[in-house]
Amino acid sequence: MAKPEIVAPNVENFVDYLRDIGYSFEVAVADLIDNSITAKANNIQIYTVAKPDLIFALLDNGIGMTESELIEAMRLATKNPKEKRAKNDLGRFGLGLKTASFSQCKKLTVISKKAGEISARQWDLDYISKRNEWYLLTPSKIEGLPLFAELNLQKNGTLILWQDLDRCNKANFTNYIDRLVKHLSLVFHRFLEGIDNQKALKLFVNSNSIKPFNPFNVNHPATQQTAVEKIRLYGSTITIQPFILPHHSKLSQQEYELYATEEGYIKSQGFYLYRGNRILIYGTWWGLHRALDAHKLVRIKIDIPNSMDVELHQSFEFYYCSNQICIYCLIGQHLHQQHHSIQRW
Ligand SMILES: Nc1ncnc2c1ncn2[C@@H]1O[C@H](COP(=O)(O)OP(=O)(O)OP(=O)(O)O)[C@@H](O)[C@H]1O
Ligand SMILES: [Mg+2]
Repeated sequence: MAKPEIVAPNVENFVDYLRDIGYSFEVAVADLIDNSITAKANNIQIYTVAKPDLIFALLDNGIGMTESELIEAMRLATKNPKEKRAKNDLGRFGLGLKTASFSQCKKLTVISKKAGEISARQWDLDYISKRNEWYLLTPSKIEGLPLFAELNLQKNGTLILWQDLDRCNKANFTNYIDRLVKHLSLVFHRFLEGIDNQKALKLFVNSNSIKPFNPFNVNHPATQQTAVEKIRLYGSTITIQPFILPHHSKLSQQEYELYATEEGYIKSQGFYLYRGNRILIYGTWWGLHRALDAHKLVRIKIDIPNSMDVELHQSFEFYYCSNQICIYCLIGQHLHQQHHSIQRW
């Protein structure tokens, strides 16, 4: 056999592909928060402004990383997706930090403090494209960076910085911030409320505290909650609970509009899928049922543990993964059988 040849990917083209995976600003930020929560942070500050330059900084008070841990964290695909993760680990692929960041910016700097030691590393996409190699840089002037002074005062934690943000529109950046606040208050609402006996997560965007938004309006007496159902699948338990939100006659106009969300009631009906207490997908019937005006108040809560990842083939193409949709169909069919007809809701 002829000698095998190494044909490495063209870095610039590969990076361009990675940048177009389809993250929105708020979804990318939520990926960073997953990492902070997994690192046991209970305080996360975000600072993001459009002027003079667009910049985004996120500081957590999690366990932080040593220099060698940080270098490994910067590697693409640093973890094996088939490996079992701790119950509270929201990650899976060892990619999110990089792919989420690259979807928004061309310069990703991570500064982390652990056991009193501060380490910093940076991916500069222009630099690696020019050199056609994955050269990881060690930035020198970090002291003046946003939120660095705060990190310096903490015992441990991690600061993520995005520079050269070329995907957000500077002119209407306040809209990005509005969408970010709404998205975080929804997808992390359980962490913001406090889970079990753990301290509730404190999350700030430009010093404003983010309040939890529970999409089921659970505290309103007119909300109808049906019985919790449990399905055993692949040795794990999936929990399902349908809700019918209060009719507008039972709510003030303000409250009715709040629960309509940005998308409105019709688009917000359907399944709300939580993995490890974090909302992954919401407001969809996965093709099992049409979004109807008559069912606009129906929201079905589904909880899956992260131990089912391998079976569910969870991927960053989550929305499109056909295997996964099969599982959802399975859940849907089960519901269908249990309740005779989904029309009843
Ligand atoms: N804020 C943080 N604090 C401490 N460690 C972190 C932080 N962010 C990332 N890491 C470390 O870097 C690793 C890589 O993060 P990354 O988001 O790329 O992948 P992941 O979270 O393992 O999986 P996924 O691709 O599903 O996000 C993490 O597994 C974790 O060890
Ligand atoms: Mg991650």
